[in-house]
Amino acid sequence: MSAEEEKEFVVTPWEVSGIVDYDKLIQEFGTEQISDELYARLERDAKGSHHMLRRRVFFSHRDLNQVLDDYESGKGFFLYTGRGPSGRMHIGHIVAFYFTKWLQDRFKVNLYIQITDDEKFLEERRNLTLEDAHKWSLDNILDIIAVGFDPDRTFIFRDTEFMGRMYNMAIKIARRINYSTVKAVFGFNLQTNIGMLFYPAVQIVPTMLERKRCLIPAAIDQDPYWRVQRDVAEGMGYYKTAAIHSKFIPPLIGFQGKMSTSRPETAIYLDDEPKIVAEKIYKYAFSGGQATIELHRKLGGNPDVDVPFQWLYMFLEEDDSKIEGIAERYRRGELLTGELKEIFIEKLNQFLEKQRQRKDAARDKTKLYMR
Ligand code: TYM
Repeated sequence: MSAEEEKEFVVTPWEVSGIVDYDKLIQEFGTEQISDELYARLERDAKGSHHMLRRRVFFSHRDLNQVLDDYESGKGFFLYTGRGPSGRMHIGHIVAFYFTKWLQDRFKVNLYIQITDDEKFLEERRNLTLEDAHKWSLDNILDIIAVGFDPDRTFIFRDTEFMGRMYNMAIKIARRINYSTVKAVFGFNLQTNIGMLFYPAVQIVPTMLERKRCLIPAAIDQDPYWRVQRDVAEGMGYYKTAAIHSKFIPPLIGFQGKMSTSRPETAIYLDDEPKIVAEKIYKYAFSGGQATIELHRKLGGNPDVDVPFQWLYMFLEEDDSKIEGIAERYRRGELLTGELKEIFIEKLNQFLEKQRQRKDAARDKTKLYMR
């Protein structure tokens, strides 16, 4: 493969492959990088700071300035995010939800969470029955409730259940989107089933649930929907949606592509037992360390490509001085790959244990969020 070919990558709502070049993606998608001033303004308005902002994990946006204008002027805004229930959730699926909770806590705004059982059933390559999609919806909703959203300001809904209330809006949106648009944006072709052709209208509906500006926190793979929304919204009397995009938490095996629900060696699932977690990390987690201890002591490790380090940096370790200390000791060769993996396994298992406890407690709370 030539160097040129190796650089190629693909990001769509259904596929991420290759090594993602995020600067290129901003250009391709036509989004904007979050400037230092905009980070500062967001943190000022939020009256606090979040490590995923400080570390530029959320790196790109659409109209975040306008959201903050509306907040500062008292007009307000609302939040929207979602999950496609194709199976167990992995760590990558939950990070945007934790960041969304932080935004809700800080700005005290309404949040809509869409569970797209229809989408995952329609995606033929997944081979899910509608019953499977329903079953996973209920499981995933518990993991989402476990994040701890404000029940008075949060509405979680499954598409197949809530569709009666969404349908009028969905067809109004659908009439404004033609085949050549979805073909160009999503890569649909003549073999794509017609449910998939209609589905983008469904994912756009929640951006119009209030006559305020909507802010969507998600990884950047979902942005193509927002691009289409922004073409049609104003003509319908709604705001173009705003978005704040994160990078992908890399797969365990290294920076190629995305964690996958169907490939256990690429991901840690929220219900992985501590022993499985340790096994997977020792066996699969890509390390930026040197081949031998001697070399590592001499040359040091590279945290930038080290998956355990990156997961700690991007999500799990909130404490800046701790994460900087780890990076420095790793670079100097004081901290060995195995030792870094131990720190990582402990932190990850602590997080998963708490998530599981809160998920158990969530069983009694579904009515609070799904009214
Ligand atoms: P889904 O279920 O594929 O993903 C759920 C959320 O997780 C994000 N995500 C990741 N974030 C960081 N690192 C990763 N490796 C990673 N993998 C996935 C996704 O961007 C998403 O935020 N069609 C959607 C469901 C949906 C939705 C929405 C998502 C409906 N409305 C509004 C976000 C916002 C889906 O299948 O997401």
